[in-house]
Amino acid sequence: MRPFVYVTRKVPDEIYDRLAAKYDVEMWTESDKAVPRDILLEKAAKANALLTVISDAVDEDLFSQADQLKVVANMAVGFDNIDLDAASRHGVSICNTPDVLTDTTADLTFALLLATARRVTEAAEFVKYGQWTSWAPMMLVGTDVHHKKIGIVGMGKIGTAVAKRAAGFDMEILYHNRNRHEVAEEMLGAQYRTFDELLTEADFVVCLAPLNEDTRGLFQREHFQKMKDSAIFINASRGPIINEQSLIEALEANEIAAAGLDVFDKEPIDASHPFLTMKNVVALPHIGSASTETRMAMMGTCCDNIEAVFEDRPPKTLVNKDVLQY
Ligand code: GLV
Ligand code: GLV
Repeated sequence: MRPFVYVTRKVPDEIYDRLAAKYDVEMWTESDKAVPRDILLEKAAKANALLTVISDAVDEDLFSQADQLKVVANMAVGFDNIDLDAASRHGVSICNTPDVLTDTTADLTFALLLATARRVTEAAEFVKYGQWTSWAPMMLVGTDVHHKKIGIVGMGKIGTAVAKRAAGFDMEILYHNRNRHEVAEEMLGAQYRTFDELLTEADFVVCLAPLNEDTRGLFQREHFQKMKDSAIFINASRGPIINEQSLIEALEANEIAAAGLDVFDKEPIDASHPFLTMKNVVALPHIGSASTETRMAMMGTCCDNIEAVFEDRPPKTLVNKDVLQY
């Protein structure tokens, strides 16, 4: 019998066909809506592999009903939607899609930084809604990016790729990370700072840390208060790393100047979210890795990993390496 693969979001034909050539495949096809929980559980109960996205909670409840599940290929570098310990206990390999999205996500992070500093989205709306009636010296002035200090929290692959871009803008690069990053220090002149030092010194505080138990709620009100009044906060990793209410209050109290956000506590946010009433917030719908090339490469990696598991090879980007001992 061919393995059964359930794909939780509509993927392009090319990806579907690649899987369908070897496996029995079913897919959630409503492209504007995530798969409902009950359907995910029902399909997981029969599946040998799942191709999931970050809005799917893959937890003990799911694993305990999925006796034949061998691999979950999550189409993301992050895997905070998955209970890794439960996966290992149930003998399920969890794979992610690192590397292929590094530069694409760094590009978006830098675009968001530039857009927030130079009020790009606000200015585009200004033109679109017919408000551009003359050129004026202080019309839509923003703040410079070049020669400023960027403070990167989370100096992994994406953080390092953002630092490279910052170097091209003649920025001074500060970073905070669990471990020192000697390559970035040598190649880019990045300077290590404690979390508090980075907050007080940086003009742009850029969050690129993974979400885990150490980083959940890392940014509280006091941390925004430590930043300069002129600081711009950028988050392109995961919403729950910041206390969102604290950020709203910090922006309302002018404790920081602006925020550029690609991620939120609960996604999607709706049109009534307080961020959307603030002129100094640029909000994007979690599009860090969203280029055609990269999204295709991410799905390709998911297919590679599923194939590896069914062909008894170690998957290239296995996250829960301890599963191999079970
Ligand atoms: C997207 O947020 C990812 O983790 O790849
Ligand atoms: C502005 O467009 C200038 O020429 O300075």
